[in-house]
Amino acid sequence: MQEMISGTNLISLLLELQQSVLGQIHQSSATQEEARMVFLGGSSEFARLARRIREVPREERGQVGIVINEVKETLEAAVLQKPKTPVDTSWFDVTEPGIEPPQGHLHIVTQAITEITRIFERIGFTRVRHPEVDWDWYAFGSLNMPPNHPARDEWETFFINNPGNPPHSTPGVRHGGRMVLTPHTSNGQVREMEKGKLPIRIINIAKCYRRQSDVSHVPMFHQFEGLYVDKNVSIGDLKGVMDFFFKNYYGPERVSRLRPFHFQFTEPSFEVDINCGVCLGRGCKLCKEGWLELGGAGMVHPVVLKNGGVDPNVYNGFAFGWGIERVAMMKSDTKLDDIRLLYGNDVRFLEQF
Ligand code: FA5
Repeated sequence: MQEMISGTNLISLLLELQQSVLGQIHQSSATQEEARMVFLGGSSEFARLARRIREVPREERGQVGIVINEVKETLEAAVLQKPKTPVDTSWFDVTEPGIEPPQGHLHIVTQAITEITRIFERIGFTRVRHPEVDWDWYAFGSLNMPPNHPARDEWETFFINNPGNPPHSTPGVRHGGRMVLTPHTSNGQVREMEKGKLPIRIINIAKCYRRQSDVSHVPMFHQFEGLYVDKNVSIGDLKGVMDFFFKNYYGPERVSRLRPFHFQFTEPSFEVDINCGVCLGRGCKLCKEGWLELGGAGMVHPVVLKNGGVDPNVYNGFAFGWGIERVAMMKSDTKLDDIRLLYGNDVRFLEQF
């Protein structure tokens, strides 16, 4: 009976082979013809793997064939960098330009973090960082989410053990061992207020964790959270800051909308949507109805201000928390319709951005 291999496995083997053969070609002192025979010829490792397409289920062969051709073209391009005739090694021209090594670049999410930080810096927001593994108090309790409140359902996901005790604790929550991988960057709100400096104008960017995975969710993602606390802050200020960001990040042609929503830690609360950058609002696999949710926003709840030691009779403020991956995907030139691609580590995908 013929041995079988899945298309995905064969593609992984081909990509691994491509990486190692590229290195070998670069290091080899062979001529073009010699290198072509050794690395692409009938008895090469590449040819042996390419022949295994016969072992792949018929319906997956098309995809594998595309990858075989791409690998072949990449190796062929590297072979063409080799000299046509043998190099005379008796002398060495030190002035000759070297062979450029393949060069990587920053991941699309890192690029987005830098760009978002720069935009907010222009209107006086400073980037801060807060723990990505935090006590129940900062992730939930201080944000007006008592134990067993249904608002915790989506967010109480990954817990880890810590034998220590927190500086503050949520009444009714057992401690000595319970910390959570932060499901949102809102854990930084009360931590920021505790610094005791007012007004506050910060942007907190961190990794977040949830038990989710589909076209618009990944288990580890990034959020950026804006927090502005001062005297006489209005919803108009919130809208103004949001519009400034959208205009600068997406360009004037994209539109956003606020939908009334509920968060325990803001009152009133909104969800912020932007028209989809893949279909420009017509409806597609990613957005379904033309709009994509970027995140939440609202006026900071007086209880949260009190928990942070800020007098809600004198100060108020707004906060918003948006997903970096979603924000980056909504740029119309990315045309990304599956968020999981960002973390698939496929260099052919990543090098496009
Ligand atoms: C929150 O996390 C609130 N803390 C936001 C907030 C901050 C509201 C301040 C009010 C004031 P939500 O669960 O909707 O809200 O998540 C916010 C955004 O994070 C989502 O809209 C989405 O852009 C992003 N996000 C959430 N879960 C995931 C995930 N699994 N993968 C990728 N992005 C996600």
